[in-house]
Amino acid sequence: MSTFFQKQDSNETLSNQRLQLQYLLENNLNQDDGTEIITGLTQESKTIPPRYFYDHQGSQLFEKICELPEYYPTRTEASILKEYGQEIAKITGKVEIVELGSGSSTKTQLLLDAYQDLDYPLYYTPIDVSGGILKESANSLLAKYPTLKITGKVATYEQALTKLSYSALSQRICLFLGSTIGNFSQEECDRFIELITSSLSVGDYFLLGVDLQKPNPILEAAYNDSQGITAAFNLNILQHLNWRFDGNFNPSLFEHQAIYNESDNQIEMYLISQRSQNVKLAALDLIIDFRKGEKILTEISRKFNLQEQSVYLTSKGLKVNATYTDSKQWFGLLLCQKI
Ligand code: AVI
Repeated sequence: MSTFFQKQDSNETLSNQRLQLQYLLENNLNQDDGTEIITGLTQESKTIPPRYFYDHQGSQLFEKICELPEYYPTRTEASILKEYGQEIAKITGKVEIVELGSGSSTKTQLLLDAYQDLDYPLYYTPIDVSGGILKESANSLLAKYPTLKITGKVATYEQALTKLSYSALSQRICLFLGSTIGNFSQEECDRFIELITSSLSVGDYFLLGVDLQKPNPILEAAYNDSQGITAAFNLNILQHLNWRFDGNFNPSLFEHQAIYNESDNQIEMYLISQRSQNVKLAALDLIIDFRKGEKILTEISRKFNLQEQSVYLTSKGLKVNATYTDSKQWFGLLLCQKI
């Protein structure tokens, strides 16, 4: 996961023989008028959209989360990609690899290895809102894979997907890994899958990573790690709002909470006000009152059932070619195709 709201100086296109970077953001993420913050913090049940986690500090904390002993999703998904990467590559044949929210592209390498081992041409289109991380990871991939060609897009998913024009290969595989889909509400998820199906061509593939339902203690431990990194990640959202909207949140007056909501099959992350207080976001001309014990919902992380997810994707017009999981059935990958 990489930094949202990156400062972008120009809409430059960088290119050399093997690397092209296109900037499609046009500063729109930096011209955040705070509408969603105002709505979220003035309603009865307070919320902050989870994309505000990912300032520079938040992105670094998320990288740390991925390595925590309790946070199993990253390494479990990687183990599935390692085991089944070749099988996936054989099913898709030669395809351009497009990745949404590519970040550091660590797990992508497991697929690149599989395509390389089959002597397939390597074309990779990473899509991310952080130009810095995209450029850095592209350069290290180019050094590692001598035949790789990269066309990166610094863009939102929507901007990039609606501008997927020419492909060097006749088909694509679009990757959406890490169970980021779990951070979407059902409505956001529906819109996202519709964007995928309308952007891909018939025959193109979509590989989706989903975190699976499992006993409550394993889930809650993953979001309440013993080193307090997830708590720091959650509280950092307040620092980000302070910076972005000239605010005076005091993070030490809030506490991290992550609980598993069994009826909705989702982890819910909250920040709980430790006392009655008011907070100002001067740039938004907003004063927010908190009662002692009042919560802000900062994230949902939905946990899926592989069969149900397969039925859902089929209902959205995707054919599910194969599903993969690990020995504990903690994480799942669905390989779909647009029909
Ligand atoms: C990015 N996303 C899939 C993570 C998750 O597990 O829902 C974000 C996260 N929040 C706390 N820990 C990790």
